[in-house]
Amino acid sequence: MDVANRLLDADSDHSQFVYVIAAIAALNGLLFGFDVGVISGALLYIDQSFTLSPFMQGLVTSSVLVGAMIGAATGGKLADRFGRRRLTLAGAVVFFVGSFGMALSPTLGWLIVWRVVEGVAVGVASIVGPLYIAETAPSDVRGALGFLQQLMITIGILLAYGVNYLFAPEFLGIIGWRWMLWFGAVPAAVLAIGTYFLPESPRWLVENERVEEARSVLSRIRETDAVDEEIEGIREVSEIEEEGGLSDLLEPWVRPALIVGVGLAIIQQFSGINTIIYYAPTILSNIGFGDIASLAGTIGVGVVNVALTVVAVLLVDRVGRRPLLLVGTAGMTVMLGILGLGFFLPGLSGIVGYVTLGSMFLYVAFYAISLGPVFWLLISEIYPLRIRGTAEGVASVFNWGANFLVGLTFLPLIDRIGEGYSFWILGVFCLLAFVFIYTRVPETMGRSLEEIEADLRSNAIMGPDGDSEVSERQHRSD
Ligand code: BGC
Repeated sequence: MDVANRLLDADSDHSQFVYVIAAIAALNGLLFGFDVGVISGALLYIDQSFTLSPFMQGLVTSSVLVGAMIGAATGGKLADRFGRRRLTLAGAVVFFVGSFGMALSPTLGWLIVWRVVEGVAVGVASIVGPLYIAETAPSDVRGALGFLQQLMITIGILLAYGVNYLFAPEFLGIIGWRWMLWFGAVPAAVLAIGTYFLPESPRWLVENERVEEARSVLSRIRETDAVDEEIEGIREVSEIEEEGGLSDLLEPWVRPALIVGVGLAIIQQFSGINTIIYYAPTILSNIGFGDIASLAGTIGVGVVNVALTVVAVLLVDRVGRRPLLLVGTAGMTVMLGILGLGFFLPGLSGIVGYVTLGSMFLYVAFYAISLGPVFWLLISEIYPLRIRGTAEGVASVFNWGANFLVGLTFLPLIDRIGEGYSFWILGVFCLLAFVFIYTRVPETMGRSLEEIEADLRSNAIMGPDGDSEVSERQHRSD
């Protein structure tokens, strides 16, 4: 049965409630995406209230990333300590307060402080959403449900583009940017209210010796007698393990998962997606499009990002994580090649301009079916239970750090060597990403989190199509 049918099938062996709670938890992604998307628009007008040097512009943009690194660094540990549900609520409240704080900032200094606070909530949201969904989803639709978070990120970006347009100063005068930043309080309030309906993750409950509560949660989100079996599976894993910390991440048997998580975190950002998400209008106007066309093009980028993420949701539990990643990074490499070439050819505003524009859309499309959603999904799947929160936090910190680095260096790089070479450099990263994925990233489709963990323990998880080093060794000795 295909994924769409499975998701809609009321008679399948899990209750519809599991989809509702996944959708609520995925609102974490909406906060994340909104924050990413809103600042490019707001920045144009913040400049009119406070005079911004280029350095200050960078600081206003990237302060949220510093906060996000703090949120991601501590969020995993906090999720393990206080539970996924309470942390979701805390993150939503901080985001809500932060939105008001930014909107009411009397000085630039205050604005930056509140951006850091908001960033902490974004960092927390980036971890706790995928973690909660992975731990509550049945394994046959875990990929599709996990992708809901990324879908919400892309919808959040699009929402922010819309809000930027709506609150532009032509309509509201100079304070438009305050309304743009304030608007984040709306999805934050929806998430905070939504957490009322979220049960705690059964895996976290078992880990904290609250087995009866876990059983009652599972019986609400599964409709079969598989509940006992699932509890047993979680118990077995949690009994052999004590709660672990950062040092456990370096244990030899966990290391392959660490490398995959951190590797994909860096790759996702060095593939250059945010150079397009943040600077699409600038790039479009460099290609030769006018203001209105650049704005329409930017919204087009947002729409392509959402649409192809929907396609990915439908494919992930059918074709698997690896094929999506491989096709996506191959496609991104080619598209960056064409995009870069466009800047070396004369007549960017003619036919070359349209080919260049097309390659930019296709680049975003290939990202949206691969690195965008699969990174966040995999880091919620590949780590052992007792360090899952912490480990996901580490991958997320690297992701935000790489995001910060690319954001900071991309414009100066263009200044020095031009768009053409800059996009080609990103293309080389995508090619390296393809090789890394081919050799290192495991397929997790259709396996329970406990099976994935058992594979990791037996050193069987890494390599193409779950090819195990163990079985390779056996082959060699045969
Ligand atoms: C990335 C963000 C990016 C977004 C674009 C997310 O998965 O982590 O940095 O802005 O995708 O859709």
